[in-house]
Amino acid sequence: MPNIACVNGKWSALASAVISVEDRGFQFGDGVYEVIRTYGGHIFHLDEHIRRLYESARLIQMAPRETPAQIEKIIRAGCKKSGYKNVKIYIQMTRGIAPRSHPFPKGVRPTAVFTFRRLDPVPQTIQDKGVSAISIDDIRWNRCHVKSLNLLPNILAREGAIQSGAYEAIFVRDGQVWEGAGSNLFAVYGQEVVTPPAGKFLLSGITRDRVLALGRKKGIAMHERNIALLDLYKADEIFLTGTTVEILPVVRVDKRKIGTGKPGKVTSLLRDAFLEEIGSL
Ligand code: PDD
Repeated sequence: MPNIACVNGKWSALASAVISVEDRGFQFGDGVYEVIRTYGGHIFHLDEHIRRLYESARLIQMAPRETPAQIEKIIRAGCKKSGYKNVKIYIQMTRGIAPRSHPFPKGVRPTAVFTFRRLDPVPQTIQDKGVSAISIDDIRWNRCHVKSLNLLPNILAREGAIQSGAYEAIFVRDGQVWEGAGSNLFAVYGQEVVTPPAGKFLLSGITRDRVLALGRKKGIAMHERNIALLDLYKADEIFLTGTTVEILPVVRVDKRKIGTGKPGKVTSLLRDAFLEEIGSL
C-alpha cells in the first residue's frame, strides 16, 4: 500500500481517507500539524517533531488524543506499510468534530490524521544552481512559532513567489526578514552565519536547529540576530532550511544578485556536513 493514511486509528489508502465536514480543522483551521521525513527508513529527528507538535497543541490549548509513544508507533507502522525509501509524513491534529461554533466544544476528542507518501527531494539541478526568492509583507499573526493549520498567508506568499518566477517568499515585518513561507532563512556575511532569532515571528525549524548545531561543531560563527531586508540584499550567501528543502541556496532576492549569484562556499560546507550526518543515520 503506497500512499496511505491513518484517521483516528483507521488505516486506508490516502485517496479514500476522509474526515467529517464538521471537523474544526475544516471549519476553522482549528488545529496544528507537523511534517516529518525519513531517509532510507530512518525517521529524521522524530522526538523533536513530536515535541514541537505537543508544544503547538499546548499553545492553542488542545490536548492530542495520542501519547507521544502512540504517535511514534503509528508513524513507524505507516512508514513500514508505505514501503517507500523516503517518506513524507504529515500529522494534522484538530480540535475535533462538533457543530460549528467558535468556543471550544465540550467532551469532543481531537482528530488525528497521519498521512504517508513518497517524498520527492528538490532536484539536484535546482540544489546546484540555487533558487530565487521575493520579499513579501508578513501578514501573519504574531504566534508564528505555532505550527498552525492556518496557512493562508503562507499560501498567498508562496503563490506570489511562483507568479513572479521565484521559488520562495521571504516574510518581512517592520523592515526585518524572518523566514520563508515554508522554510527558515540564513544569511552568510564573510565567515559568519546569521539567522533571525527564534520567537513569535518564526517557526523554529528542526532543520534550522540541526544547521546551527552542525555549523558550531565545524567552528563556524553561527548567530541568531535580526536581519533587515536591506542587509539581506548585501549578504554574501543566503540559504533556506526545512524538512523537504534541507539546505537550499538562494542566489537572487527581489531580482538582485546575492554575492556572486552562485551557491556559496559556506552554504556548501554546511550542506556537506548535513549530508554527512544523514549518511551516518
Ligand atoms: N514547513 N518555517 C515555516 C513557516 C515552515 O512551514 C517550515 C517547514 C519551516 C522549517 O521547519 P522544519 O525544518 O522543521 O521543516 C520553517 C514544512 C516542511 C511544511 O509545512 O511543509
